[in-house]
Amino acid sequence: MSAQFDHEQVVIRTGLRSGLPVIVAVHSTKLGQAVGGCRIWRYADWRDGLADALRLSAGMTAKCAVAGLANGGGKTVVAVPESTGLDATLRRRALEDVADAVASLDGAYATGPDVGTTPQDMAVIGERTAHVFCKPEEWGGSGDSSPATALGTLAALRAVRQRLHGASTLTGAHLSVVGLGSVGLRLARLLAAEGADLLVSDIDPAKRKRAGELGATWVAPDEGLTADVDILVPAALGGVLTEQVVPELLCSAIAGPANNQLATPDVADLLHRRGIVWVPDYVAGAGGVINALTVELHHGTAQEARKRVEAIEHTVADLLHAADHQQVTPAEAASQLAQRRLDTVLSVPAAP
Ligand code: PHE
Repeated sequence: MSAQFDHEQVVIRTGLRSGLPVIVAVHSTKLGQAVGGCRIWRYADWRDGLADALRLSAGMTAKCAVAGLANGGGKTVVAVPESTGLDATLRRRALEDVADAVASLDGAYATGPDVGTTPQDMAVIGERTAHVFCKPEEWGGSGDSSPATALGTLAALRAVRQRLHGASTLTGAHLSVVGLGSVGLRLARLLAAEGADLLVSDIDPAKRKRAGELGATWVAPDEGLTADVDILVPAALGGVLTEQVVPELLCSAIAGPANNQLATPDVADLLHRRGIVWVPDYVAGAGGVINALTVELHHGTAQEARKRVEAIEHTVADLLHAADHQQVTPAEAASQLAQRRLDTVLSVPAAP
């Protein structure tokens, strides 16, 4: 993270009902209302939750800009102390606290699901504020965003495969999916259906039985990360691509939906120097937010939303091409594209 604070505003409060630290980071509203999910997660120190919120919200600004959405980036983190048991009552209180924090921002930011939250949780938030995406369909929302995130990542993987192999089919491709959460598992199913050769892993050993269903090989997460595969697919929490792990990697490319995969930004250069193609997470993982906004804000049909999600394939292909052409990393090409989109907004003063 750069040392310079470049967020528009950050709300940090002790939730009135839950007593938990509730953090809402609004990175940018330059392109429109800031959007980004609500993460309920355990942190050893609430400041780690703040650091996550700051990084993840900046990532959402880039995610929306590259996806061509008229929205900015934000993120909510409820930083649950490691010693606190989160039962159903405390969870509900935390969600109500999140709703109040979101409502206090008066529309500058709208939340959605993320690691640790579900469409049902969005319905709870929706009892107190309209600024929430992905409520269950019966409550008027677009529901679970993970199928669209998985589909968008599949599109990104096609572009990578095309680049590595000269054809976009994933049949026979050797991939390692690290993390079988709601997005990772769906993505693994799509890949298995297409005949990819899969290694799968998760920090939760109970997920092992999924490997059998998928016809995949189960490995430990560390092994999954450094496996000799064509494409590594990080689909769990961030920070997995560290300076230490780069020399150990045996894959040719990395593209996955996990947010904030790089431990530090310069890991993108290390990967590039090793000849490993890294597709920025905020490009590959944009399917969920693209789907939710297309359906809920722009009243598009499911089919229109699907088309926009699948267009991630072209976005990635264009970025890889631009990176080659300009002799920069795909990370740099993506960041330049995001910056161009942010710079072309006319700063028209709001009408009185
Ligand atoms: N968790 C989603 C992401 O990281 C955030 C999101 C999804 C926000 C859908 C709004 C709607 O992109």
